[in-house]
Amino acid sequence: MCGIVGYIGNKQAAPILLDGLSKLEYRGYDSAGIAVYDGETIEMTKSKGRLKVLSELTHDGTTMPGTLGIGHTRWATHGAPSDVNAHPHFNKDGSIVVVHNGIIENYLKLKKKLISKGYEFLSETDTEVVVHLLDYYYNGNPLQAITKIMHRMEGSYALGIIFKDHPTELYAVRKDSPLIVGHTEGGNIIASDVPAVLKYTRDVYFIENEEIVKMTEDTMEFYNVDEEPIEKEPIRIDWDVNAAEKGGYEHFMLKEMYEQPKAISDTIMPRLKDGKIVIEELGMTEEEIKAVRKIMIVACGSAYHVGITSKYVLEGMARIPVEVDVASEFRYRDPIIEDDTLVIILSQSGETADSLAALREAKNKGAKVLGIVNVVGSSIARESDNVMYTWAGPEIAVATTKAYSCQLIAMDLLAMKFAQVRGVISETEFEDMIKDLKRIPDQVELLLNNKEKIQKFANRYLAARDVFFIGRGVDYAISMEGSLKLKEVSYIHSEAYAAGELKHGTISLVEEGTLVAAVLTQEDLYKKMISNMVEVSTRGAFVLAVTNEGNDEVEKAADYTIYIPKTNKYFTNSLAIIPLQLFGYYIAVGRGCDVDKPRNLAKSVTVE
Ligand code: AGP
Repeated sequence: MCGIVGYIGNKQAAPILLDGLSKLEYRGYDSAGIAVYDGETIEMTKSKGRLKVLSELTHDGTTMPGTLGIGHTRWATHGAPSDVNAHPHFNKDGSIVVVHNGIIENYLKLKKKLISKGYEFLSETDTEVVVHLLDYYYNGNPLQAITKIMHRMEGSYALGIIFKDHPTELYAVRKDSPLIVGHTEGGNIIASDVPAVLKYTRDVYFIENEEIVKMTEDTMEFYNVDEEPIEKEPIRIDWDVNAAEKGGYEHFMLKEMYEQPKAISDTIMPRLKDGKIVIEELGMTEEEIKAVRKIMIVACGSAYHVGITSKYVLEGMARIPVEVDVASEFRYRDPIIEDDTLVIILSQSGETADSLAALREAKNKGAKVLGIVNVVGSSIARESDNVMYTWAGPEIAVATTKAYSCQLIAMDLLAMKFAQVRGVISETEFEDMIKDLKRIPDQVELLLNNKEKIQKFANRYLAARDVFFIGRGVDYAISMEGSLKLKEVSYIHSEAYAAGELKHGTISLVEEGTLVAAVLTQEDLYKKMISNMVEVSTRGAFVLAVTNEGNDEVEKAADYTIYIPKTNKYFTNSLAIIPLQLFGYYIAVGRGCDVDKPRNLAKSVTVE
C-alpha cells in the first residue's frame, strides 16, 4: 500500500507535502514524488528511493513554488520501484495529475481500451490508467469526470487529483483505501492517515467509500457518486502528537515495545468495573453471549497469531468451538457460517484489504461481526457491527508489538467475559484471573528491563541462517509470532512448529549449531516439551528456552533459559512474547537492518 497527501491553501505546498509524506513513509517507501501548481505551471519531482532523496532533490520543497500540490510515497504493486513508476502520474499534456493508493483491478482491460483510443503509457503502473481515463472523460467538469471513472474502475483507490484548468481546486475520492481530509489554518489537507495531518488539525473527516471531496483554500465540499452534495461531520482526534514521534528511542519498534505496559493497562482498565469485566462496545446481551455456538476469528499476520492463541484461550476457558482463518483464505473459500456464529476480525490498522474483504464476506453471509481494531474510525472499525478498540495508540513501526499485545489482552477479556456469563468458570477462578490480568503490565515492564541480557544473546546469532521456534498449545501460537518478528525485521529465515510435529520431517534441517527457541509455559506440557528439546539438541541444536519461573527442570535440556513471571496459564503469551520481540529487534539492529521500515513490507497492506 502507499501514502498520499494533498494541500491547497495560502502557504507553499511542497514543504507541507514532504512533511505529510514523512509521517506516511511507514505505508511504503520504495519511491516518492510531489507535484506543485503555482497557477501557471504544474511542476513535478519524483524519484526511486526513500523520501529523503526527494527532499534533497527539491531542497526540502523550496525549489517548487505553488500553494496547491499532491504527493505520494510508494509500496510497489504494479511496476518495479523506479522514477517513471513513482507517482504522481499525468496525462499527455500534463493538464491532469494524480496520486493513488490502492489497486485498479481491471487496469489491463482499461489500458487496452485507452491504447486503442491512442493513449500512450510511460509507466507499468495501474495508476496511469486513472489519469488517462480522467483525460478521456474530461470536458471541463472535474466532478463529472471523477464520477465517470468511478463507474469504470474496479478495485481500490484513494486519489488526489489536480486539474490544470482549475488552479484553485483540489479533488480527492476514495473506495476501499483510507482517505482523510482536514481544515488547516489557511488551507485544506488530504492524507491516507491521521499522523500526516495531526500537525495541522485534530478535526478530521473520514471519507467513506465512493465519496468525493472538492477543496479550495477555504472551502470543503463532499459529494456522492451521483454528484449530489452530502453533509459530513469531523471526528476529533485526541492522539498526543508526540505519540507519533520516536520520543528519544532509537527506533519506533523499541519505543512501542516499551509502551506495552501502558497500552495493555489502557486496554484492560476501562473494561474492569468493581471486579467485573464490562465490554459495552461488544453490543451483546448475556442471552446473546450464551447463544453463541461458534466463534470464527479472521485476520492476517501477527493478528492471525493472536487468533491462534485465542482459539486455545476461548476453547479452554469458555468452552466455545473456535475456527481461525487467515483472511486471504477465508475470503475465497466460501466459508460455511451457521447461525449463532460470532465472527471476529482482528486488525491493528483496520485497513488490511484481506481482512476488510473477509468482514464483508462474513456480513454477506449474515454473520454478526465484531471488529477488534487499533485505529479509531478505520474501515474495519466502521464496517463491523460492533468494535472493541485496543487502546495501544498510534503504532508506526511496521513490525507490530504493542498492538499485538493489546489484541491478546482484548481477547483474554472477551474469553473471561464469555466464560463467566456462560458459567463455565467459578467466581474464585474468575477473581484469580482478574488479579493475574492486572499484574500483566508490571510483569511486561519487568521483562522489558531484561533487554541487555537478550541483546547479548542476540548478538551471538547475527549470522544465523535458520531459526526454529517450537511450542505446544498457546506456546505454539507464540512461537509463530516470535518467528515472524525475527523474519520481518532481521531477514533471517525462521519457522514456527508445533513441537510434536517437528519430527515428522522438518527436524532433518536441524544441524550443529541450529538455534531452536522452545517456548514452554504450559505446566501440563513441560515433559513433552523437554523431550522435544532433547530431540533437537541431540542433533546439534542450540536450545533457547522461554519458560515460567520455577521450572528449573528445563535447564537440563536447554542451553540458555529466559524465565517469565508466573501468571494464569492462558495469559502467558503476553509475557513470553516480550523476550522474543526483543530478540528479533536486537538481531535486526545488530545486522544493520532498517528496523522500522523493513524491506518489501508496509505497515498496513491495503491491497491484495
Ligand atoms: C506484523 O508485524 C506485520 N506487520 C503484519 O503481519 C501485520 O500483522 C498484518 O499485516 C496485519 O495487519 P493489521 O493488524 O493492520 O490488519
